[in-house]
Amino acid sequence: MPHQFVAADWEQYRIDYHNPFQALEAPEEEIAIVDKVLARLAELQIIPHTRYDRARFETFRQAVIERFEIPWTAITPRMQCLLWALNAIRQPRNMLAAGIFCGNTFISNAGTGVGPDAVYQADNLVGIEIKLDEAARAERNVRAFDETGVAYIVAGDAVQVVGAFDKPIELLYLDANGTDARSKGIYLDILQAGLAQMPQGALVLAHNSVNCAEKMSDYLDFVRVPQRFTSLNVIFDVEGLEVSAV
Ligand SMILES: C[S@@+](CC[C@H](N)C(=O)[O-])C[C@H]1O[C@@H](n2cnc3c(N)ncnc32)[C@H](O)[C@@H]1O
Repeated sequence: MPHQFVAADWEQYRIDYHNPFQALEAPEEEIAIVDKVLARLAELQIIPHTRYDRARFETFRQAVIERFEIPWTAITPRMQCLLWALNAIRQPRNMLAAGIFCGNTFISNAGTGVGPDAVYQADNLVGIEIKLDEAARAERNVRAFDETGVAYIVAGDAVQVVGAFDKPIELLYLDANGTDARSKGIYLDILQAGLAQMPQGALVLAHNSVNCAEKMSDYLDFVRVPQRFTSLNVIFDVEGLEVSAV
């Protein structure tokens, strides 16, 4: 049986994709559920500890609301907070995010290493998007957030871009839906392209582990082999996130 974290209300906790920052629960409730996920991840030794700066996260969230053009997103407030917290805890020098659309998912990861509320110094925070117009929008969004250039967008195929990256990848975020019927089946190709560059303790975060589990089945089977990874399926919204440590 794969490791799972299941929130009692995961099926009811749904956002309006066109109004994603509308609060669905009290801040204390969001904090409590993210804390429980982090505790389970620490218990499994996927992450070394559970501490993140909630006040900085709140100012980050406000900066995204004010600076980003987001036509829609499936990233719930719980998911935004969890992605930010995982990056704050792991502090990847190099983070690659595959399939970032307008950049909201990307900055949920990268916002810990750049911008007004950075909590550490990163080297390369790279968002990869195959659609040129979306890559251009994501780059505009990111430039309104990060003046340093540490965070940037590459327009291209994530399998190739990840495979060509020649530095250690401490965190890989997967959200690309491919260009054919395999859709999120592309996750395994992207992971295999980067795996040789991922050191012990590197994290892989795979969005849609719940609502796209069938399309991702080869990927999920791969990361759930204990000899390869320690992995937890986080089910606290209808999309889900598979969190795996090398
Ligand atoms: C469905 S969107 C992700 C949206 C995100 N979950 C959110 O809620 O904001 C997936 C993105 O992956 C991109 N994509 C698909 N195949 C890709 C590939 N091979 N490399 C990079 N990006 C890809 C698509 O163009 C699309 O923008």
